[in-house]
Amino acid sequence: MAKIVIQGGCPLEGTVRVSGAKNAVLPILAASLLAEHGVSQIEEVPHLLDVENMANTVAALGAKIDWKGTTVRVDARSLYSVTPPAELVRRMRASFVVAGPLLARFGEAMIALPGGCNIGPRPVDLHIKGLEALGATSVVENGFVHLRAPRGGLHGARIYLDVPSVGATQNIMMAATLAKGQTIIENAAKEPENVDLANYLNAMGARVRGAGTDIIRIDGVDTLSGATHAVIPDRIEAGTFLVAAALIGRGVYVENALSHHLMSLIAKLEEAGATIEDRVDGIKVWPCPSGRMRPLDVKTHYYPSYPTDMQAQIVAALTVAQGTSMVTETVFENRFMHVAELQRMGANIHIEGRTAVIDGVARLSGARVTATDLRAGAALVIAGLIAEGETEVHGLHHLDRGYDNLVAKFKRLGAAIERFEDIGQSAKSVG
Ligand code: UD1
Repeated sequence: MAKIVIQGGCPLEGTVRVSGAKNAVLPILAASLLAEHGVSQIEEVPHLLDVENMANTVAALGAKIDWKGTTVRVDARSLYSVTPPAELVRRMRASFVVAGPLLARFGEAMIALPGGCNIGPRPVDLHIKGLEALGATSVVENGFVHLRAPRGGLHGARIYLDVPSVGATQNIMMAATLAKGQTIIENAAKEPENVDLANYLNAMGARVRGAGTDIIRIDGVDTLSGATHAVIPDRIEAGTFLVAAALIGRGVYVENALSHHLMSLIAKLEEAGATIEDRVDGIKVWPCPSGRMRPLDVKTHYYPSYPTDMQAQIVAALTVAQGTSMVTETVFENRFMHVAELQRMGANIHIEGRTAVIDGVARLSGARVTATDLRAGAALVIAGLIAEGETEVHGLHHLDRGYDNLVAKFKRLGAAIERFEDIGQSAKSVG
């Protein structure tokens, strides 16, 4: 099995460039299915397992995919299936967002229901309710949901989301682009990735207004065409580097990071004592002068509040803060599985309901730990970077889902970090 080995304590210094946002690329690839004419060109696409998975899903429906570096061309003019392979959808819950485009363009979609995952049950009821409001019928059978548009096609509707679900907002927004009349999504998710998706849809000829606010209006059009679009930078990847740099940096420039996507995290890092400077093309970070963060109270919530996808990383950072911190997770149940692994490294954390109470210790010590989900993996890498001695991180398939070249990027900043791919008996370093 592959592993990352880290010798803790090496200060980070220099520049790291953030890749394109995974959570924007995934729905954008799905939205490419809407193009009846022309070819889409999507730029700044990160090399990640999840992206590969979505590209394979779109290809399995008949689209032609062509990769050149970080640019992907998608030709979806002639598709031949409305049923993405179940194993791809089950592997990645985000593939469920192909439902909206397929339903809008072909009047039908048959999608495997994504199973539960490591961070809670994560239902898709709001996606289905939203698509039904546009006129679709849904039947659940043998683990699949079969969605069908009415004879005259989907129609606009006013839809209130009980929670501002990112994925449900995307699915409804995409389906509504080709519906007759106007759709209004109330209590929509405001995440920057959804704004990026709306910008791409508009470049394809859609009429989406209000993305980034909690009311999105979509006026249906007859057809959409492929478009060229550069994906926004990944704010969670950027945030992961900001946290590491605030702990053991000697001045790290996180190039391509957009501060206005990271306001809540930046406010928390400043409160903890780090110095953050917003520059033209990125963010420069210096660590807390005392060498240890001040304790924090952090509560995750929907954008623009503190992101749940940065919860595990800040928990790792606060394990060595000068006092007691509280981190409350309000978005997902069961998202504290990294805590047990951090405890193996000497962290003093206990869970009270949805809150992690973290008593800062002077130092963590290296250990063999396993990533239980994507962001938990990032938290363990951060913990390894600040710990005394050697840390081995296993469960790398989670990290590969969402971090483009994480090891190489930390290495360039000066971290003593190596990745080993297991080849038979001997381990090979791939830096
Ligand atoms: C997206 C992100 C993920 C992030 C999450 C919250 C992608 C690919 N993934 O996931 O990284 O952690 O937003 O910021 O963009 N819910 C329902 N019913 C539904 C849908 C969601 O109850 O039909 C609930 C979920 O259980 C959860 C909350 O709504 O408690 C938010 O989930 P949602 O915003 O949908 O997350 P995802 O789109 O799956």
